[in-house]
Amino acid sequence: MSLLNLQIDPDRLHRRIAALAEVGAIEGGGCARLALTDADRAGRDLVCGWMRELGLAVTVDAIGNVVGVRAGRVDGPPVMTGSHIDTVRTGGRYDGNYGVLAGLEVVAALNDAGVTTEHPLAVAFFTNEEGARFAPDMMGSLVYTGVLALDEALAVQGIDGATVGGELARIGYAGPAPVPGAVPRAFVELHVEQGPVLDREGTEIGVVESVQGISWTEIDIRGTSNHAGTTPMSLRRDAGWAAGSIIAFVRELAQELGGDQVATVGRIEFFPNLVNVVPNRAVLTVDLRNTDEARLRLAEARLAAHLDALRDAEKVDIATRKLARFAPVPFAPEMTARIERHARAQGLSTRRMPSGAGHDAQMLAAVCPTAMIFVPSVDGISHNVREYTRPHHIEAGARVLLAVLGELAGATEPAGERKP
Ligand code: GLV
Ligand code: MN
Ligand code: MN
Repeated sequence: MSLLNLQIDPDRLHRRIAALAEVGAIEGGGCARLALTDADRAGRDLVCGWMRELGLAVTVDAIGNVVGVRAGRVDGPPVMTGSHIDTVRTGGRYDGNYGVLAGLEVVAALNDAGVTTEHPLAVAFFTNEEGARFAPDMMGSLVYTGVLALDEALAVQGIDGATVGGELARIGYAGPAPVPGAVPRAFVELHVEQGPVLDREGTEIGVVESVQGISWTEIDIRGTSNHAGTTPMSLRRDAGWAAGSIIAFVRELAQELGGDQVATVGRIEFFPNLVNVVPNRAVLTVDLRNTDEARLRLAEARLAAHLDALRDAEKVDIATRKLARFAPVPFAPEMTARIERHARAQGLSTRRMPSGAGHDAQMLAAVCPTAMIFVPSVDGISHNVREYTRPHHIEAGARVLLAVLGELAGATEPAGERKP
């Protein structure tokens, strides 16, 4: 068995990345394709069209996950790759999209070489990986793997009041394929690192061993609106001040816990949000992440204690809602070893590392052998229109993906050229 005849076409891959980036394009070279918006629909239509052109059998399931399957010599579960094509509102063009389009490039390379694999090969994109409009993130892969019930996911209301079920139907992607979906033989996700480690070190390929734990909480603070000029400081129940205190607290908490702990307040709203009115309500989100589950729990407990202290100090009411909670996920050692072996065989430098971002692969890891391949992000910038990965790294990652998938799926030479 030889994979030597298989080659990706870099220009074709770059062209597809650029074409998908045109959909929902925003100033600075990035994309705004929040999940289940019209822009997401347009991106989905484009990628589904490419899947069909490549001869894939395309199915859409009840949460809108799209899976394109290339038949193998035997029926049965496919080797799967994929990622997501939704973006945050200020997203780059590589996050998620790269993994899906590199998957299509692998299919195109197999087609060009006339290679039939032993097992089917599937390229998937999962609904609402970002979680920026509808929480939790990784929603499509959570439903695909049976961890989140379909009804629960469909009922989720987004930051604009729309529901997942309503928007899926509206954009025409509430499909007939059942969930949970078929369990793949293995899952490999190629992604840009979105952090600074590989770029800083000059390492070409990240072999991802784990994904850190994620805790998202929405905090709803209720106080009393009053006149900003006449209300003495001692008589205030200021929801705005309480929100500000939480922002400062989580920064200090992350610094104090050290290690891998990170903490972010990414969304905040004040009511009535007027210059001369003490806010009677503030709603904000806290994103806590750590590679160590015990440390993440400690961070959550410290935040809860801070909220208790605020209730006492400012006499505000505080309600919390968990938007997402995932423990750290280790990937399969035989899969990481395989990725490392193929990358090194291609003369690429590698390093093992955890993922700081959430990924669909962390959900697939619950049902099948899974791992991820990272390529460098220039200056570690992501969730920003300036997200950039150099072309030779885009190509290197796709070549490693091709080799890993080719081996897992059992690629052989074209019929007629097989050696006896
Ligand atoms: C999702 O992409 C996340 O890590 O926030
Ligand atoms: Mn992503
Ligand atoms: Mn992202």
